[in-house]
Amino acid sequence: MVVHNGIIENHEPLCEQLRERGYTFVTQTDTEVIAHLAHWEQRQQGGALFEVMQRVVGALRGAYGTVIMDIRDPSMLVAARSGSPLVIGRGIGENFLASDQLALLPVTRRFMFLEEGEIAEITRRTVRVWDQAGESVERPEIESQVKYDAGDKGLYRHYMQKEIFEQPQAIKNTLEGRFSHGEITLSELGDGADALLRQVQHVQIIACGTSYHSAMVSRYWFEAMAGVPCDVEIASEFRYRKPAMRPGSLLITLSQSGETADTLAALRLTKKALGYLGSLAICNVAGSSLVRESDMVLMTRAGTEIGVASTKAFTTQLTVLLMLVARIGHLRGMDQEIEEDIVHALQTLPSRIEQMLSLDKPIETLAEGFSDKHHALFLGRGDLYPIAMEGALKLKEISYIHAEAYAAGELKHGPLALIDADMPVIVIAPNNELLEKLKSNIEEVRARGGLLYVFAEQDAGFTASENMKIIPLPRVEQIVAPIFYTVPMQLLAYHISLIKGTDVDQPRNLAKSVTVE
Ligand code: G6P
Repeated sequence: MVVHNGIIENHEPLCEQLRERGYTFVTQTDTEVIAHLAHWEQRQQGGALFEVMQRVVGALRGAYGTVIMDIRDPSMLVAARSGSPLVIGRGIGENFLASDQLALLPVTRRFMFLEEGEIAEITRRTVRVWDQAGESVERPEIESQVKYDAGDKGLYRHYMQKEIFEQPQAIKNTLEGRFSHGEITLSELGDGADALLRQVQHVQIIACGTSYHSAMVSRYWFEAMAGVPCDVEIASEFRYRKPAMRPGSLLITLSQSGETADTLAALRLTKKALGYLGSLAICNVAGSSLVRESDMVLMTRAGTEIGVASTKAFTTQLTVLLMLVARIGHLRGMDQEIEEDIVHALQTLPSRIEQMLSLDKPIETLAEGFSDKHHALFLGRGDLYPIAMEGALKLKEISYIHAEAYAAGELKHGPLALIDADMPVIVIAPNNELLEKLKSNIEEVRARGGLLYVFAEQDAGFTASENMKIIPLPRVEQIVAPIFYTVPMQLLAYHISLIKGTDVDQPRNLAKSVTVE
């Protein structure tokens, strides 16, 4: 019997070979080659099940985690880790295997993490591990620090809704203990960190999905406030090109799960490349592969996130990133006033988000206008452009409405051609230095009969009309506007999805943690 998470890239030639040896395949899956191969190896050379697994793994190419059991001896499981995560949960008179500690938290808090290329044999009472070279090794047992607070939806209908409403508390947790005398400290980075961060001349951020959007916001922050050049790239692109090294570059990986295959691969790749000052992971899962393999770590402390569409993990990532910008800026001589403004804005953020959440009802009403729409356009400028991207992503993920985001200044270079009464245009309009520019962009849409939904601060000077709805929002400190304006985007997507009757927490074809390519 085989359990397999991942991809066997050479399954076709293996399949061919096994057919020639007389095996009949009954499924279309690459998994089936593992079962036949194990059977073949056992018949040919015999040996203990872990030895069979060692030979099987030697023939497989790809990224996977797999477990096999000989049905004649169901008291023993043998697992192999190759590119995908695999954890062993220790119980009393029972042991467990899973790809993520989260799955096992209801039954144990004691874990052993397999390293790349390792094989483990587990029975009810014993665990034995062999490394890539076939040598027997001891793996330490670790008490999980992950808080299992996600088991119950409480009064909420969905995990996503619960997680949206948890954001004020999640951000409070993220901020806790990271200030001292009006200064951001981040002492958990370790002793040598200040000296290292002082040398940073460039920041390279790598991420996927929602995490990529928070990285994009931070690019505006790093350059405008800390004066540090910053590049942001999708991990699956970065890992397959040959990026040129910038001097004094710090690599930051951003990931909710810490197990995203492409992000991990990019980190491993840069470890081989000379020249990075070091790697810093911003992550929500303690003990994840990304955390274990990075030089420095900042935890987002969002608490367990269950909904596939990421919400509180995103806003806490932004919170950590802003603190990091302040810390690096501080060490490199940033204006003290900017740091004070950041500290003040962050401190007020949880209550600002509470205020925003009280707009749940009006946003629910607004959502009704979208239920028969097939497309939507999200617009923003500056550090709110990535929030428009995140808003579009949330809508796509959970309502299956096709949504695109554009930097509003780019409208005239193409998307204006799409504007008609069937295309809702959602505009994120904080009261910042780009507001006047944004108003001109809004006019361009209005003049072409577009249907506008403008999320703006009360005093931003918009007047509602038949095809322009204004959603008045409370005032917010502009530094944290990207975090603040994310919340109505999440609520809008959530309510549209409810009306459409889609599966909010587990949208079709998507996974919470993408541990394979
Ligand atoms: C998947 C999830 C997204 C997430 C992305 C990156 O696509 O569905 O919600 O943003 O992976 O995940 P990470 O754990 O690396 O942040």
